[in-house]
Amino acid sequence: MRQLSTLFALPSPAYVLEEERLNANLALLDSIQRQSGAKILLALKGYAFWRVFGHLKKTLSGSTASGLYEARLGYEEIGGRSEGKEVCVFSPAYKEAEFESILHYATHIIFNSFAQWQRFKSLIESKNTMLKADSQSPIEVGLRVNPLYSEVEPRIYNPCVAGSRLGITPDEFQKGVARYGLDGISGLHFHTHCEQDSTALARTLPHFEKYFGTYIQEKKWVNFGGGHHITRADYDCDLLIKLICDFKRRYNDIEVFLEPGEAVGWQVGFLIGEVIDIVQNEISVAILDVSAAAHMPDCLEMPYRPSLTKLSKQTGLESDKGEGKGIYTYRLGGPTCLAGDVMGDYSFDTPLCVGDRVIFEDMLHYTIVKNNTFNGVPLPSLGVLDAQGVWTLLKSFGYEDYKQRN
Ligand SMILES: Cc1ncc(COP(=O)(O)O)c(C=O)c1O
Repeated sequence: MRQLSTLFALPSPAYVLEEERLNANLALLDSIQRQSGAKILLALKGYAFWRVFGHLKKTLSGSTASGLYEARLGYEEIGGRSEGKEVCVFSPAYKEAEFESILHYATHIIFNSFAQWQRFKSLIESKNTMLKADSQSPIEVGLRVNPLYSEVEPRIYNPCVAGSRLGITPDEFQKGVARYGLDGISGLHFHTHCEQDSTALARTLPHFEKYFGTYIQEKKWVNFGGGHHITRADYDCDLLIKLICDFKRRYNDIEVFLEPGEAVGWQVGFLIGEVIDIVQNEISVAILDVSAAAHMPDCLEMPYRPSLTKLSKQTGLESDKGEGKGIYTYRLGGPTCLAGDVMGDYSFDTPLCVGDRVIFEDMLHYTIVKNNTFNGVPLPSLGVLDAQGVWTLLKSFGYEDYKQRN
């Protein structure tokens, strides 16, 4: 629940989780798990707001990590094998120095090449001997493949473009099998989606099966990666469930994993900031205490224009009318030196004033995890609004956080 008085009392800038929205996403993801039999893991790269993992840890089957730090966070804050949770790790390349530690946290380790698998095979075997002696389940080992099909745009997010370093191509896979065999590999992984519907998965699976179907037959598990936009209002969940159930039927009830990040943190909260000044240069340009470059980098990378709500003590809450569609138009930009640190042009029927606040909607995924302190801009505070609209501050940052990063 959003009350004007509470919104003006929040620290600025701040990332604000709206707890009931996260719980709604988790309830939907849980129902997908139950109906499809798939296990859903949180991809920490997209959403790592561990201070509010209480309900998430009861609902999801574990976490997916890109390396040692995320594996440790998933293990500590969502759970590991002793809690019946998965910690699935995929890195484009593992370093010797971190691998021993990863073995401590991981339930699944996925390699991006046969060479890396061979390099670390004996370490995994030794660890698995110890785990078995301790009556614990061994680490499952998988390979990430490239099915040469992805509909993702822009190219920067497409792992199947020519020359991509992500996933073993069918040709290289055949060569690897001929040279090393697949003894010790229990699963395959692909990740080829980004913000996509289940119809994209339906078009992708035939490519995956065409190249790798014969190998899947003998495997225990398959990981369909992330990028499934399950919690978006128009996502076709029934089709997803059907695709998973049919896939499991074709491959001896094989275990299926999904590892969304964005779908967990989708529309669960906002970034609140304040108008510090308004300057004129053909149009009115508002300078905020939040930065696209430091706090919302995907707005520049993707690029996209976030939805916005204006808060005024005099006129209350007003949603952006759409570029040029309201009476008053403002370009909103950050406090850094980057000329392009701009979120976009926004229009309202009432003027925007210094001291007003702005809410950038849907700002909890791929933001906090990507924050930086460019120009010494402070990191936004972190907190939560519960269903009754009660605010709890969970973390604030200061000068030392900036200093110690440099
Ligand atoms: C291997 C892998 N798994 C899962 C994800 C999570 O994707 P999303 O947050 O789009 O669901 C990503 C994102 O890049 C990824 O690279």
